[in-house]
Amino acid sequence: MLKGRNLIDIKDVTKEELNEIFDLADKIISDPDKFSHICDGKILATLFYEPSTRTRLSFETAMLRLGGRVIGFSEPNSTSVSKGETIADTIRIISCYADVVAMRHPKEGAPKVASMYSKIPVINAGDGGHQHPTQTLADLLTIRSIKGSLSNLKIGCCGDLKFGRTVHSLIKAMSMYENNSFTLISPQELKVPDYIKREMGKNNIKYMETKKLEEVIGDLDILYMTRVQRERFFNEEEYIRLKDSYVLDKDKMENSGKNMIILHPLPRVNEIAYEVDDDPRACYFKQAKYGMYAREALIMKLLGMDK
Ligand code: CP
Repeated sequence: MLKGRNLIDIKDVTKEELNEIFDLADKIISDPDKFSHICDGKILATLFYEPSTRTRLSFETAMLRLGGRVIGFSEPNSTSVSKGETIADTIRIISCYADVVAMRHPKEGAPKVASMYSKIPVINAGDGGHQHPTQTLADLLTIRSIKGSLSNLKIGCCGDLKFGRTVHSLIKAMSMYENNSFTLISPQELKVPDYIKREMGKNNIKYMETKKLEEVIGDLDILYMTRVQRERFFNEEEYIRLKDSYVLDKDKMENSGKNMIILHPLPRVNEIAYEVDDDPRACYFKQAKYGMYAREALIMKLLGMDK
């Protein structure tokens, strides 16, 4: 039962609860009209302390499509945050106004702090370079819909695996399903953090690390590309040196399997050439749409409106 709970880390939900969210999302996809008044009278607050296109707007669209309403901000400087209000006080106030809140923050752990002071469910919509659990809902719903299963998959994660919160949450989630393995493709400076590798080791999850996308692309079921994130670097020169480490183009796609799918949480900068967009294996725009359905299902579950 997810009613009243927070989603801060993807491990806050079990595999069975994930599957229930995806089953509900599938029902919404099949018959969206049936759900168009399910959240009548309910309010979602979106508190975005960091820029976003997909996450904020898909959350807001999700609530509107369920018949609910939305309050919030996309620019904290227009709120009392600019006067020094703490997260604890802001969330206490929002708890008086809304029924569920989605929060994005540049600082790791900020949504967790909010959840400690909140009287309503808090959803982590991305915290710094840490976790992005609802992107993972979008990713897994996409994989399940296209591949038909979330098990027995060879998943390549490519790009900024150090600060890439979507990759951190994806690895945790896909590790819950049977016989998945990971190929971690990154420059030395942007490798997956040790704490995630230790967890994979403890759970006997198979993984390998490499710098060479070309050498492994032919062996993957899923290629999850990520952006090298300028906003996470302290040093601009280091960012410029690493930003084009990987560019997926038609030539590289020649060596990949015909059933491999390409995912990307977006936004992209240079890491996927536009010429790849027409390839039937490019699923990143579909993935963004699945994100809306996954968030509809999540909102319903947290509000207990799924019964
Ligand atoms: N995938 C994702 O988090 O995109 P936004 O930053 O646009 O929300």
